[in-house]
Amino acid sequence: MSFYREHILPRLTDLAMRHPTLGAERVRWVPRAAGVVLEVGAGSGLNFAHYGSLVRRLYALDPSAELRGMAATRAQRVRVPIEFLAAPAEAIPLPDASVDAVVTTWTLCTIAEPVRALLEMRRVLRCDGRLIFVEHGRSPDPRVRRWQDRLTPVWRRIAGGCHLNRPIDQSIEAGGFEISDVERGYVRGPRVGSYFYRGTARVRG
Ligand SMILES: C[S@@+](CC[C@H](N)C(=O)[O-])C[C@H]1O[C@@H](n2cnc3c(N)ncnc32)[C@H](O)[C@@H]1O
Repeated sequence: MSFYREHILPRLTDLAMRHPTLGAERVRWVPRAAGVVLEVGAGSGLNFAHYGSLVRRLYALDPSAELRGMAATRAQRVRVPIEFLAAPAEAIPLPDASVDAVVTTWTLCTIAEPVRALLEMRRVLRCDGRLIFVEHGRSPDPRVRRWQDRLTPVWRRIAGGCHLNRPIDQSIEAGGFEISDVERGYVRGPRVGSYFYRGTARVRG
């Protein structure tokens, strides 16, 4: 593994993900999780402080040892019991129908095989469980989309695999979910990376 990926990227990720615009989304969406929760791509643990008292246990899954290390420090400052899972979302080490909610924030852009990962999230969710997502992705504007497509090959190399141009809602549906509610739109920042999809989805029958 390169020095950049191992030492620089995790620190840059933590710094970038602490942006107040993202913090405002965390405050809105993360407290909706309850029961046994799986957070996919938990990163440096920036969501941990936003889980409410209705969360009985949190599984924090992330393949990056460096980010899990940062998240472990944040885990010590919260009450919810947290168990780390060192695994990719494409192979979640949990039994079928074992969690009440799955949370993913700005992670479907980075996962190598997002639909396979979503099928795994669906497998571990109880049939009445909820997927809570906050993601950036493909813009509806052709001009912005063209730039997203142009920049993604370079961007993913410097940003740990992040794609600017993924159609998040289509991936969620292809992963066996039915979207219950979704808010789409730009937040502050360069348009190529600021078209957000946030909402909830249910396991499709
Ligand atoms: C932009 S960061 C977001 C981190 C965190 N969700 C947050 O909101 O701050 C993307 C995260 O996806 C994780 N990731 C990359 N590939 C993954 C995979 N295959 N399965 C699960 N997580 C993955 C990275 O390690 C990183 O923590």
